[in-house]
Amino acid sequence: MKQNSRDWDVHPPYLYPDYKSTVLRAPAKPLIPIRHSLSELTGPVYGHEVIGKYDNDLTKNAITNGEPVGERIIVAGKVTDEKGQPIKRTLIEIWQANAAGRYVHKVDQHEAPLDPNFFGGGRCLTDDEGNYRFYTIKPGAYPWGNHPNAWRPNHIHFSLFGNQIISRLVTQMYFPGDPLLFYDPVFKSVPEKYRHLLISKFSLDLTEESFALGYEFNIVLRGKNETPFE
Ligand SMILES: [Fe+2]
Repeated sequence: MKQNSRDWDVHPPYLYPDYKSTVLRAPAKPLIPIRHSLSELTGPVYGHEVIGKYDNDLTKNAITNGEPVGERIIVAGKVTDEKGQPIKRTLIEIWQANAAGRYVHKVDQHEAPLDPNFFGGGRCLTDDEGNYRFYTIKPGAYPWGNHPNAWRPNHIHFSLFGNQIISRLVTQMYFPGDPLLFYDPVFKSVPEKYRHLLISKFSLDLTEESFALGYEFNIVLRGKNETPFE
């Protein structure tokens, strides 16, 4: 059955030995396709919790005693399907390291400071034109032990639900001109021709004067020109 099979020209393979954790998690046997049920195709993809006023503003959603440290940025774009139609009212969640390259997570013991005013998580819904916008702090690079002197380039993790649970996308957004991209096996596991789809574009239009630089990151869910999985 070919139903909704992943386009391997676009997406990284399950097994990419330079990215070590894929060696453990890649399926060792061929996958068994399962036909999607009606509830998967038509059911709600997430709960109906209210999105809070500051959920899309990571510079404000975790303040305890002041502003978070680092370079304030805006990350915005449009979510569409393969035909360019906007994906409306879909949930986008992001998570990221702080400006020093540290996550608020017990497994992250990288010797870099936590920021008491930065949690590193946010979410929002796209509007009726498929647009979304986050305010955040530019994430720092961090070491990750995959190989000697391994550093992750600056990146923001994205999760999108789309119109159906089967259109969920989990990926990473990168920044233009980052010299670490070409040493990063996570980025390089994406087929070369499609890597540019994961790099945001600096945008003077999105940039807010005297406040924050803007980066545009458009996302295509499924089909031709689909944004690659992480
Ligand atoms: Fe990360």
